[in-house]
This record gives sequence, C-alpha cells and structure tokens, in this order.
Amino acid sequence: MFPVRIRVAFGLISALVIALLSSTSALADGPWTNDPQGPQAKSTADLYWIMFVAAVVVLAIVDGGIIYAGIKFRERPGHVAKQFHGQNFLELTWTVIPTLMVVSFSVLSWQKLDFINNTRSGDVGMVIQAQGAQWSWTFSYPHEDRFKLLEGYLQTGEELHIPVGMKIRIELSAKDVIHSFWIPSIGGKKDAVPGRATELWIQADKPGTYKGQCLEFCGDGHADMLITLVAHPQSEYAAWTTQAVKDANVFLDPATKVGRELFFSLACVGCHTIDKTTAQGKIGPNLTHLMSKKSIAGGALSPVNEENLTRWVSNPPAVKPGTLMPNLGLSQQQVHDIVLFLQTLK
Ligand code: CUA
Repeated sequence: MFPVRIRVAFGLISALVIALLSSTSALADGPWTNDPQGPQAKSTADLYWIMFVAAVVVLAIVDGGIIYAGIKFRERPGHVAKQFHGQNFLELTWTVIPTLMVVSFSVLSWQKLDFINNTRSGDVGMVIQAQGAQWSWTFSYPHEDRFKLLEGYLQTGEELHIPVGMKIRIELSAKDVIHSFWIPSIGGKKDAVPGRATELWIQADKPGTYKGQCLEFCGDGHADMLITLVAHPQSEYAAWTTQAVKDANVFLDPATKVGRELFFSLACVGCHTIDKTTAQGKIGPNLTHLMSKKSIAGGALSPVNEENLTRWVSNPPAVKPGTLMPNLGLSQQQVHDIVLFLQTLK
C-alpha cells in the first residue's frame, strides 16, 4: 500500500484531470477559439498551436533533462553526488535557443496582429455597425443602398447577417459602458468603448450560425449578451437582404405608422409579442401572424377582420367578460389606427 501522502496526491491529481476533461467537453458545445471558421480566427489558432507545440517540446527537453540529471547524478549509498561548474557549450545553447525562439514568436505575433488589425484593406466588401448596450447588441447596415428602408437603414438585434467569403469591417460603438465583441470561431475580440470608435474585421468561410458573446463584464446581464452570426451563402444573401428590408418596411409604411407607434407606446407591448420587435409580452397571445388566425378573443370573434378587430380593441370586456385584456379607453381614431396596423401582421 502507498503512503497516505502519495494516495492524497494521486486523488487530487485525478480530480484535477477529471475537472479539466469535463470542462473541455462543455466547451465543445459553446464558442471555442480553436475551431477556426474564418481567416482571422485561423491565424490566431495557428499562432496558438505553434506556441503550444514549442512549449510542449521545451517542457519535455527541460523537464527530461532535470529528471535525467536528478536520477543519474544523485547521491546514493556508495556514490557521491557529482558537482558541475561551468559548461560553456550547454550554457550557450540554453541561452541562444530560447532567445531565438522568443524573437521569432515576437515577429510571428507581429505579423499576425498586422493581419488581424488590418480593417482598412482594399478587399473589405461590406461595413456593418455594431452597438453594444446593456445588454444586447444591435447591428445596423447604413453603408449600402440595398439596406435602405422607407426611413433610415436596416437594423437587426442580436443577429448579425453576413455573406460567406467576404471580409467585413465591423464598426463598434457602445451606448453606456464598455462591452466587447467576440465571436471566437470567426475572430476578435475588440472592445466597444463609449465615446470612442473602434473596429475589427470578420470573415466566415462556410455558411452557418456562429455564437459569440460580450467579453467585457458590463453588469447584471453580461453573461446573456450574446451574438448570433448568421453567414449566408453568397447566392442567398441578396434574398435575405430583400426579405429583411421588406419586413422592416412593413413597420414603416406611412399608412400604418401612426397605429404602429401607438401600439408600441401603449400597454399592448407588456402582454403581447410581435417577433423581432420590442413587443415581447408573454401574458396575451403572440400577434406576429395575427391575420393568419381563424379567430380572436379566444374564439369569441371570427373571422379576423377589420370589423371584429375594431370591436375587440374598442372594448374587450364588452365582447368577452372576464378577459385579461383591459379597455384602454381609446378614441375611435386611435382604435382605427391600431386596427390598421394590426392588419399588417400577416
Ligand atoms: Cu456587454 Cu458584457
């Protein structure tokens, strides 16, 4: 049987190994730096692996030497420990080789940094703005006509849409505190600092969805400040753009704008959800595809048309006693405007 000390040490080492292994498998599901899917992330990962392998080789040589010397020259019965003084060749070797290694790592890092920080090269195909705020990212596409809406330019929340194989400059800003933009398998990271313009570039080689996260502690919601990068095949990006612009324009249509603004300023948004908008209430039904429903008011009114919507919005408890939807006391004109807007929810 081994002495207690050795058994305790063995137990601790096993626990450490198990903890390391389980954390690695947990990482396999999440954002992971060493699964590069774009040129920038790849350059970082390459540098990491070069240094890692070099470090392992150095570790093996140095520790191997120490262990070998410790065993071979140790003091033992009938053997006096050897004493060494001065070994010019060895001392020169372990000075020159590490110096050369450190210098070449510096040069290599310098080159990679140059590549990573080059956000203004001629091959930048698109510019997208990203704003960090407690606690979400908003992406705007104000640099190209194809993103133009009836008012302003396209914006997406939390989802960043790009075509594959294109170098894209991300211009970062922050609304409140410092945030940090990071999509590990694509590249980064870069801080978004209030009052200062920072930028980075990204490029995805393959279509897919890549997870990213704010990497600067920015308050309560920091851990949930996620980024979803959607890389579309080049041929499908135009279709996505057209659809996104069309969807966004529905909300800007001058004919329904008054009602839309009214809806979003009233208590409606506290209870109802309309996907991809700030209306995220969970108490009442989801209204995203309101006009595709067969009935409203839990079946009390059918079909879903202007007349029935007007009756319902004017005074819900009068249609369905006991309903949770209150009578907001809207004027006829307000009801008309809101119903006009509701009819755009197809
Ligand atoms: Cu934003 Cu952490």
